[in-house]
Amino acid sequence: MSHTPLLTDLLRKKRDGESLQPDEIRHFIAGVADDTIPDYQVGAMLMAVFLRGLDDGELGVWADAMVHSGDVLDLSGIDRPKVDKHSTGGVGDKISLCLAPAVAACGVAVPMISGRGLGHSGGTLDKLEAIPGFRVDLPSDRFIELVDQLGLCLIGQTARLAPADRRLYALRDVTATVESIPLIASSIMSKKLAEGIDALVLDCKVGRGAFMKTVEQARALGEAIRVIGRAAGKRVSVLLTEMDAPIGQAVGNATEVAEAIAVLRGGGPADTRELTVRLGAEMLVLAGVVEQQTEGATRIEAALDGGAGLALFGRVVEAQGGDPRVIDDPDAVLPQAPERLDITASVAGVVTAVDALAVGHAGLALGAGRARKEDQIDHAAGIDILARVGDRVEVGQVVARLRHRGRGADDAADQVRDAFTIATGEQPARAPGSRIIEELR
Ligand code: URA
Repeated sequence: MSHTPLLTDLLRKKRDGESLQPDEIRHFIAGVADDTIPDYQVGAMLMAVFLRGLDDGELGVWADAMVHSGDVLDLSGIDRPKVDKHSTGGVGDKISLCLAPAVAACGVAVPMISGRGLGHSGGTLDKLEAIPGFRVDLPSDRFIELVDQLGLCLIGQTARLAPADRRLYALRDVTATVESIPLIASSIMSKKLAEGIDALVLDCKVGRGAFMKTVEQARALGEAIRVIGRAAGKRVSVLLTEMDAPIGQAVGNATEVAEAIAVLRGGGPADTRELTVRLGAEMLVLAGVVEQQTEGATRIEAALDGGAGLALFGRVVEAQGGDPRVIDDPDAVLPQAPERLDITASVAGVVTAVDALAVGHAGLALGAGRARKEDQIDHAAGIDILARVGDRVEVGQVVARLRHRGRGADDAADQVRDAFTIATGEQPARAPGSRIIEELR
């Protein structure tokens, strides 16, 4: 850099819709990470980016500067291909728990650094912590060792991973700049690229229970993620997947772990398995383990049906301090809520919608999620969705069951009841469709 740019010049440039130079972006992100730029100037830049966007060149540099604001894991000593999956967040999204062991059992290293749930959407770390003893706070050298030995380790973000993102995210939250495609894409990718991966599959959720409400928004986010991936020399595939109704049957931490284990046994709900197989197949393609999606799908199905994924998950649980008996008897090992409350259909007909957002809010009311970052969660609380979109139900039939300890049960019951849309009449049940909307490769 020939000279240190003046922050006000950068703000003026972005405000007026001009492109920032790479050295200007790096200067700004470095100042975010080391706290030398005050909150008001960071906030002003966030608003300028929110309003003006970043072009493809700016986006690649912005994300790269965020990655290098902290540590980047060195996985070069691991000779297997290293591929991860990221989901933009949904309701009942336990796919990482069944996908990662199945993919690792096919010979790919999966270094998975995940987040916690916030608001209506759950987080992989909270689900893992429902397994008694499971530790997600391993130091990075142990993380790398386990990825090398087992092909899989699942931990939380450390303070040294993409620190610029932590400050930017906190300021986005209070400056009304969260919903910006370049800011979301760079935030997600800064953390994923710092894992030292070769490739990434993004599960971009679309619909009522997702961040992205329309296919157009989701496509734009997927494209921005791919721009960042290309600039970093990483292979990135994006699947847009439907998130109007909760995924599978289980919503809540312990109950979702049990469902993921059922999928790892070759069973589980059809949509949970479909997402596991399709996203897993794409990971195998990106890893170069197979050439075609169909071949990848066959390999993942074999890892689920033959038990290789389940066995690997048991070894990972044990290595991370958890009780490995969970894979044989989940209900005996996972925490159970003492109370059940059944929600029944008030009319006969066909279920045409189950509102994932309403179910997510019901989960929050029961304590299965957190409204604020510092909230404690109840791993045993949750909701089982027993009637799915397309099912025929009769009056009085149980369509959902709450698992609870009293807290928030009445409120949650109302929300779950309202989440169901039932078309009355004589029409027959209809088979559920695929959750895959589109693939961006
Ligand atoms: N997830 C992230 O990590 N960052 C965002 O900005 C949004 C979702």
